[in-house]
Amino acid sequence: MIQEAQHAPSDARKEFTFSERDFRMISALANERYGLFLQPSKKALVHSRLAKRLRALNLDSFEAYCGLLNRVEGDAEQTHLLSALTTNVTHFFREVHHFTYLKDTVAPKLAAKARGGAPVRLWSAACSTGQEAYSIAATLLEAAPELQKLDVKILATDIDPKVVETARKGRYPVDQITAIPEVWRRCLARGASTKKRSYQDG
Ligand SMILES: C[S@@+](CC[C@H](N)C(=O)[O-])C[C@H]1O[C@@H](n2cnc3c(N)ncnc32)[C@H](O)[C@@H]1O
Repeated sequence: MIQEAQHAPSDARKEFTFSERDFRMISALANERYGLFLQPSKKALVHSRLAKRLRALNLDSFEAYCGLLNRVEGDAEQTHLLSALTTNVTHFFREVHHFTYLKDTVAPKLAAKARGGAPVRLWSAACSTGQEAYSIAATLLEAAPELQKLDVKILATDIDPKVVETARKGRYPVDQITAIPEVWRRCLARGASTKKRSYQDG
């Protein structure tokens, strides 16, 4: 069992030695296990992302962290490694022009297909915490409310199981909702009653 430590704020800026060897080991693991490519130029980023894990685990060095990753009990830590290395930034209706295009151009064609009995399938292929998939659902329902009763499914997947868990719950802080422009917020309220299931890659 790996115990996580509680730290005083004064410890938050501690730097850790991060050798080329440690970086290569972490890059190789991230590549073999998750298909991530960490270019040498990402070394500083990897250091800053993983320093939190070293603190949480009360480790003194990246060498010790690499040792942990290689041990049997380090298996669970590999999931934390993945979460630390992926960039999960997202929000409802992020890059809103995509949703405008979906609503005005794509949704009418999809609605016509669905009305004709064809299955309609959409995929949020790197869904992070799920806001993109819910925004797609809301946009479709705003464009064509009858889609709710037709054969339409949205698949949401992500390589990081932690974010998929949040997507599956579909519960978000209220300030994320109030930040959405009114016109899109109405779409979301309409989509909120839609049945949801979410999936994880791998
Ligand atoms: C910046 S977020 C984008 C979220 C959302 N698509 C959006 O645009 O708001 C990128 C997501 O891609 C995921 N990701 C990275 N590589 C992936 C892969 N090979 N397969 C699936 N998801 C991946 C990350 O875990 C992260 O959650």
